[in-house]
Amino acid sequence: MTKILVLLLCVLLGASEVVNGSVHQKEKVGVFELKKGDLSLKVTNWGASIVSLVLPDKYGMLGDVVLGYNSIEDYKNDTSYFGATVGRIANRIGGAQFNLNGIHYKIVANEGNNTLHGGSIGFSDVVWKVKKYQRDGDSPRITFSYQSFDGEEGFPGDLLVTVSYILTGKSQLVIIMKAKALNKPTPVNLANHAYWNLGGENSGNVLNEVVQIFGSKITLVDSKLIPTGKFASVKGTPYDFLNPHVVGSRINNKKLAATKGYDINYVLDGEKGKKIKLAAKVFDKKSGRELVLYTNAPGVQFYTGNFVQDVKGKGGFVYQAHAGLCLETQAFPDSVNHPNFPSTIVTPEKPYKHLMLFKFSHNKAL
Ligand SMILES: *[C@@H]1O[C@H](CO)[C@@H](O)[C@H](O)[C@H]1NC(C)=O
Ligand SMILES: *[C@@H]1O[C@H](CO)[C@@H](O)[C@H](O)[C@H]1NC(C)=O
Repeated sequence: MTKILVLLLCVLLGASEVVNGSVHQKEKVGVFELKKGDLSLKVTNWGASIVSLVLPDKYGMLGDVVLGYNSIEDYKNDTSYFGATVGRIANRIGGAQFNLNGIHYKIVANEGNNTLHGGSIGFSDVVWKVKKYQRDGDSPRITFSYQSFDGEEGFPGDLLVTVSYILTGKSQLVIIMKAKALNKPTPVNLANHAYWNLGGENSGNVLNEVVQIFGSKITLVDSKLIPTGKFASVKGTPYDFLNPHVVGSRINNKKLAATKGYDINYVLDGEKGKKIKLAAKVFDKKSGRELVLYTNAPGVQFYTGNFVQDVKGKGGFVYQAHAGLCLETQAFPDSVNHPNFPSTIVTPEKPYKHLMLFKFSHNKAL
């Protein structure tokens, strides 16, 4: 087994050498492992993406709980954003445009007339530099950096971005995303787009997993999933996950028909005066695995992989709709066009920092 993994790693490491046109630097694309106790995380500097997260179930059996691919070539061809860091603006920007300090910016539209996840070549489609890498020890970690240029996909100003993955505690993954505007104010909203399946990435779907989301409001959207600027209470709707619910129990509700499942941003309630909010919990009864997610972001996009179809994943397993679920902590979508949403504007004086803490456990047999 180890031999196979080493072989695969070598193949991936040697896979290609990509010229990063935007910063004129040659960076090798590789896969890097962080290992602590039973927890093993693999990430790649292609899109600063999570490739796999292996952890035990309630019987001690190891399993990989994120959807992904066998090779870097597959990550380059991905259209589902598996495990990726998305930006400069995660989620949608209505009309692919915005005004900032009296200047009108037209950005690349890649979903009809709108922009999704930073445009046609977002941060998920570029090679990041490896800044720091420590595989083992008390706090295994890796930091990727990317310098986005003024005008990239239409966004203003040079922006220095870093993403760090850190294993801490007994079974915890911390992701820290930072961005610094180098010369002009710019909107920034970064998110991790991992598709979780606590039963194992090749176990089928997440419809039997139990989800709790600590947001009592959602940001309402139009038919193209662009926020209207209004909020709605989740009370009495299939969006209500304040108490735990099985993912599939209301997924066929008429209200979710247009998106074929959940694809909505929650306003996280949080506790008064506390920066870090409890965002969500996911529990899989069969494996006994649980994930608890905390963040400093104002929102979380809950997406149930509705449009995944015939995607050939790891080990040849083919993913279909609801093969995984995403909990993308982030600012509210299209904030740059909604003055009533918390601002996403980053300036040279005011940098950006986004924290995610995933606590995993596996002994909750019920
Ligand atoms: C790339 O993805 C498209 C569909 O998104 C698929 O048809 C094509 O076969 C893929 N190419 C490779 C080399 O995997
Ligand atoms: C884009 O906008 C134009 C003008 O409003 C409209 O005619 C067209 O249908 C839109 N395209 C899509 C894909 O929504």
